[in-house]
Amino acid sequence: MMKQLTLTRPDDWHLHVRDGAVLKDVVPHTAERFGRAIIMPNLQPPCCTVDDAVHYRQRILEAVPEGVQFEPQMVLYARDNMTADDIYAAADSNIVRAVKLYPAGATTNSDSGVTDIRNIDQALAAMQEVGMPLLVHGEVTDADIDVFDREAMFIERILKPTVERFPELKVVFEHITTAQAAEFVQGADDRIAATMTVQHLLLNRNAIFEGGLRPHHYCLPVLKRERHREALLAAATSGNPRFFLGTDSAPHPQGKKESACGCAGIYTAFAGIEFYAEIFEQAGALDKLEAFASFNGPRFYGLPVNEESITLVREPWTIPDSFAFGDNERLVPLRAGETLQWRLQGSASE
Ligand code: NCD
Ligand code: ZN
Repeated sequence: MMKQLTLTRPDDWHLHVRDGAVLKDVVPHTAERFGRAIIMPNLQPPCCTVDDAVHYRQRILEAVPEGVQFEPQMVLYARDNMTADDIYAAADSNIVRAVKLYPAGATTNSDSGVTDIRNIDQALAAMQEVGMPLLVHGEVTDADIDVFDREAMFIERILKPTVERFPELKVVFEHITTAQAAEFVQGADDRIAATMTVQHLLLNRNAIFEGGLRPHHYCLPVLKRERHREALLAAATSGNPRFFLGTDSAPHPQGKKESACGCAGIYTAFAGIEFYAEIFEQAGALDKLEAFASFNGPRFYGLPVNEESITLVREPWTIPDSFAFGDNERLVPLRAGETLQWRLQGSASE
């Protein structure tokens, strides 16, 4: 049995760190492990302009521990009024990497998202021209569509027509949850990729109802059936370079999760790479982890891979029940109080 695993430093291509007082509690978890992270722009108000991104990036950098090298990769939140000029400005900024499409109402802080993708056609044309990727939250929002079918429906109704209308547009299908999504990406050309989260590779929808209602297993897109988890795992470990790591770590205060109307999001950044090591090992595919975590993302984004490496050691440890979260709140992580098999060497939690 392998005791130690050294990897090129990985990146997280889908991450929520929020803003303000909580940054100091969550950013160090990511920065200790990952060289870069794609920072989701669904703040309130959203991060929509280059100016917003410059300032948000600065606040994130201030929360990075001394001596740690971490580069936030900023993303603009698309709204109906996004123009081609917004894209040219983003491309010139050198700090904005991508644009995020939230269908209005699809998830946390998506109220000002795009109401019809055709409203941003000019921006999409400009993105295609400058090679800036579109990151999509792939769910339709129609109330009459079953919540478990929303991703599959998005592929047919929105994604396929859009990639046909923009044949060179780079697209990352974010946090995919279904066999249909994995198949779509496998059958698409090189400009289409997908990120996969810890929770969708590790859990199926039974986890939401295991012995009672489990708010800390609720995220969007919602967990799906076991056969979908198996399809995702097969895709992640297949060696296909268009699948890569994106935790979608999404911290919320404990009180907002454990509530009559609990919000969506699972916190995994504190062990972002350790969870994937466990998942890949259980699938007998540890040898595929490095490409998934450290090579495929930069390749898709046209960036160099990280130069340093990290080492994971097989040393079971107990995940805390909660972490500090801003001045008065607590943050409950995935698998709180339970055991993880891999530990990051040299981490603050060691
Ligand atoms: C995310 C959040 O809380 O910002 N929640 C989630 O369940 N994944 C939003 C998102 O990525 O959909
Ligand atoms: Zn997300």
